[in-house]
Amino acid sequence: MKILAIETSCDETAVSILEATGTVSDAVFTVLGDALYSQASKHAAYGGVYPTLAKREHAANLIPLLDTALKEAGFGSHAVQYINEKDTLFLTHVLDREGDLPTALLSFLQHIPRPPIDAIAVTHGPGLEPALWVGVNVARALAMVWDIPLIPVNHIEGHVVASAVSRSETALHTYHLNQTQFPILSLVISGGHSEFIHVQDWGEYHIIGATRDDSVGEAFDKVARLIGIPYPGGAGLSALAQKHRSLHATRPVTPSHPTRKLPRPMSHTNDLDLSFSGLKTAVLYWVKEIGDMDDTMRGLVAAAFEDAVVDVLITKTTRALALHPYQAFLLGGGVSANTYLRDRLVHHFSISRIDTPLLVPAAGLSTDNAIMIGIASYLLHLRNTPPLSADYPLRAEGNLKIG
Ligand code: KG4
Ligand code: ZN
Repeated sequence: MKILAIETSCDETAVSILEATGTVSDAVFTVLGDALYSQASKHAAYGGVYPTLAKREHAANLIPLLDTALKEAGFGSHAVQYINEKDTLFLTHVLDREGDLPTALLSFLQHIPRPPIDAIAVTHGPGLEPALWVGVNVARALAMVWDIPLIPVNHIEGHVVASAVSRSETALHTYHLNQTQFPILSLVISGGHSEFIHVQDWGEYHIIGATRDDSVGEAFDKVARLIGIPYPGGAGLSALAQKHRSLHATRPVTPSHPTRKLPRPMSHTNDLDLSFSGLKTAVLYWVKEIGDMDDTMRGLVAAAFEDAVVDVLITKTTRALALHPYQAFLLGGGVSANTYLRDRLVHHFSISRIDTPLLVPAAGLSTDNAIMIGIASYLLHLRNTPPLSADYPLRAEGNLKIG
């Protein structure tokens, strides 16, 4: 089955074309075409995602990305040559909401030779609603023009399944589903979400713990900003912390200000909930007290913050794993790219004799992408979830729940 997947829930615009085969016990995904554009640097000036800019960027970039993905898959497209500047401008103003599909969009999509694609998968929530609408409207238009069904996908489900596949060592661009036993524990930590999810089966999810305020990615980004790293600063903060740790390991670091033990919020509560706004505030006060920060202090703050977050996540993960005979622990979402977190979890599992397999996303599948949306849609299909008809009025739902 060939699937075209679209993702526009936040600040990445992505289109993938996957060939999915096999059953729920041996599914294989070959990426035929993949195009992704991150708007992150455009949002940096605002210190976070600026929704109006996000939806405009999605609307301006989605068609060119579709073109690239189709060409890469060998389905020749040249859609872009049929769309003029006036149409593009018009579309950026009408694709971000519910309404009739613009004729301009439908008419130039008709110029694309109908590719051998069997379904259109699209993220319909959760996320920024105007941004989601852009993907949903283009997906609906493609389904209509090509007369093929739609498979709506929950963005969080995409993050869950992204770590259930591993990249093939022999075939380029191929992923194998390697988790077939249930129940599974999933921890999705991204810019928008931080949740422990009990996965009873693909498509059957229960949230068993969640953040009460900031998500882990949000906390990383806010603290990064406090120490002068532009949005999205999670990866940059982590790199600074790693550098600090390695310097510290080889020669003593003398900080210009006293160090401080940061809080581990909600570590001792008997639940799986998380909270990071208090930790962020503690860093804020510390940074204010320091005033002018040299590189040593910036590294020290970054490492202390990252240690606090990782400690909390390890404590809560251990608690969650004790609840059920989980067959695997899937770590997903943008923050799962963090190597310090990965290493500390592996170390903790080893010293605590936790033998649950720990799975993380392959390179490129931690942060937002359309490959994970295509994978999730195929697993839904294998579960006999009926697809939506080509003319179904699918809606974007900013607050869509997963369980
Ligand atoms: O999943 P994602 O791409 O978008 C959402 O669905 O929200 O996650 C983006 C988040 C950002 O907050 C970013 O700073 C964080 O993931 N992130 C990281 C790392 N790489 C990305 N945080 C910590 N360490 C990293 N290496
Ligand atoms: Zn995401």
